[in-house]
Amino acid sequence: MSPVIIDGKYTSDKIKKEIAQRVEEIVANGGKRPHLVAILVGNDGASQTYVGHKERACKEVGFDSTVLRFEDSITEAELLDVIAELNSDDHVDGMIVQLPLPKHIDEQKVIEAIHPEKDVDGFHPANVGKMMLGLPTMLPATPAGIMCLLEEYNVETKGKNCVIIGRSNIVGRPLANLLSQKGKYADCTVTVCHSNTKNIEEHTKNADIIVAALGKAGFLKGDMVKEGAVVIDVGITRVPDSTKKSGYRLSGDCDYETVAPKCSYITPVPGGVGPMTIVSLMLNTLKSAEGK
Ligand code: GUN
Repeated sequence: MSPVIIDGKYTSDKIKKEIAQRVEEIVANGGKRPHLVAILVGNDGASQTYVGHKERACKEVGFDSTVLRFEDSITEAELLDVIAELNSDDHVDGMIVQLPLPKHIDEQKVIEAIHPEKDVDGFHPANVGKMMLGLPTMLPATPAGIMCLLEEYNVETKGKNCVIIGRSNIVGRPLANLLSQKGKYADCTVTVCHSNTKNIEEHTKNADIIVAALGKAGFLKGDMVKEGAVVIDVGITRVPDSTKKSGYRLSGDCDYETVAPKCSYITPVPGGVGPMTIVSLMLNTLKSAEGK
């Protein structure tokens, strides 16, 4: 079988153009450009790349963007002060603190310090709670991006068995919640597999939709997948590769060569879920700016 490749780059470019148009309308009507602030602590290479992508996307859609960079040595109290200032700054519509943070900083405390209306990552308990209840809120960016792709490609989800591998607060658990809610591109029967799940392949082999979000390069193999399954690959791991100038290549959580031939739809890495995560963040920032 030759799968439909779910093109996150194309879809995200289309949405970015729509956002850019909306921003120009706002500005033409005397409003101000939405402003996203990203806080980056330390020198983690992947985090620097992600924040760079977010900054570039802001430029593309016409947002103002600021990146606040801090050394690993910043204290928790200092970081909380920075967040408090941004909370009360009317020129800031949304903020994200790139995770992970150094071990001496309590991530949950930091997430809870962000005002829920500026929490464009959708990580604050108030926003997570609203999502759980199916109320309008800031949805976390990666799950929202995946839901958007299912809709864009008109993937049939009603009553389907969906297996999510990975139970993170950022992807697996919120996505399980969204896919099990009532709705046109939801209404799935969801199973969440994790590091203590026995015989994962017994679950994946019965799945109509598989979301691989565990962060292990090439984990899902073709023999774990049913013929005709929809596979959404959230993984993006740097794998050493001496043939590349950078010294690494990006690998998803699926072994694409063996998985793709069995699928009806599959997201590539890169160019699948990744660009959608960024565009969801832009949509949340626009929503926050327009909510004022
Ligand atoms: N680290 C990995 N993914 C994310 C994300 O979506 N938001 C933030 N803030 N940090 C991350």
